[in-house]
Amino acid sequence: KQMKFSPYHIHFPKTSRKLPQCLIIGVRKCGTRALLEMLNLHPRIQKAAGEVHFFDRDENYERGLEWYRKKMPHSFRGQITIEKSPSYFVTPEVAERVRAMNSSIKLLLLVREPVTRAISDFTQLRSHSATAVLPTNQLSQASSSSPNTKSFEELAIFANGTININYRPLALSIYHQYTLRWLEIFSRSQILVINGDQLITDPISQINRVQDFLGIERRINHENFYFNKTKGFYCLRTMAGDKKCLKETKGRMHPKVNEKSVSILRKFFVEHNQKFYDLIGEDLGWPE
Ligand code: A3P
Repeated sequence: KQMKFSPYHIHFPKTSRKLPQCLIIGVRKCGTRALLEMLNLHPRIQKAAGEVHFFDRDENYERGLEWYRKKMPHSFRGQITIEKSPSYFVTPEVAERVRAMNSSIKLLLLVREPVTRAISDFTQLRSHSATAVLPTNQLSQASSSSPNTKSFEELAIFANGTININYRPLALSIYHQYTLRWLEIFSRSQILVINGDQLITDPISQINRVQDFLGIERRINHENFYFNKTKGFYCLRTMAGDKKCLKETKGRMHPKVNEKSVSILRKFFVEHNQKFYDLIGEDLGWPE
């Protein structure tokens, strides 16, 4: 029997929701959102909308892979689905769980100079606690001993000059501690380490590395970026020509941290940075 033509018979290529073949695992405050938005400009990439936190939160992980897959966007065959949850990098169970899903997954690890990252982290935490704890008209009345009003220097360095390694923004900058576990579970060639400081100043240099790593054509190029002087960061131009900057919580002003403290902290990180370079087999040249 011959079928009559109707619009319902027009064949569209099939799309489906697929588990990610690539993850941005962290580190938080190193430009994970910027990286995902930049990669999403590529016609062969589809990004998951939010941070799914599948592998790091037990209550999500227990819902199973079908739950996770349904959180993924529709994609065409041949497209790569990417998800980012920056806490994956530092959560102990995650690497093993990711391997159980897909042992040949590609992992993107974004890092920044550790002291800069810690200050960015501090800035973010302070912005949350300031608005969550007190109405703005009471902020100035908060006691200076309250954790919300302590300066970065006070939180990071004790009065006797030793480093407070239990201060989370510092602890999370000790990258080698977390990297070790990932390298026990995945081969080095599955992990691309991306320089988050260069992602800010020269995004293409890092995006090219990712496009090559993922085995996709270099379709994202200088035409996809323009520098926004007011924001002080690059913004994006989609393939369709639409302009898009990241929201104002990305690219915040950092408080001025005194030079002495920065130099104490940089010295503290020298040994840790070296251990990280040794693990990944690359020297990121962070200042001492
Ligand atoms: P700051 O706001 O401290 O400058 P994450 O998305 O992982 O939380 O990272 C946030 C950081 O991304 C920002 O930290 C900012 O420095 C960095 N970033 C990199 N490229 C950016 C861009 N094009 N626009 C805005 N922020 C960018």
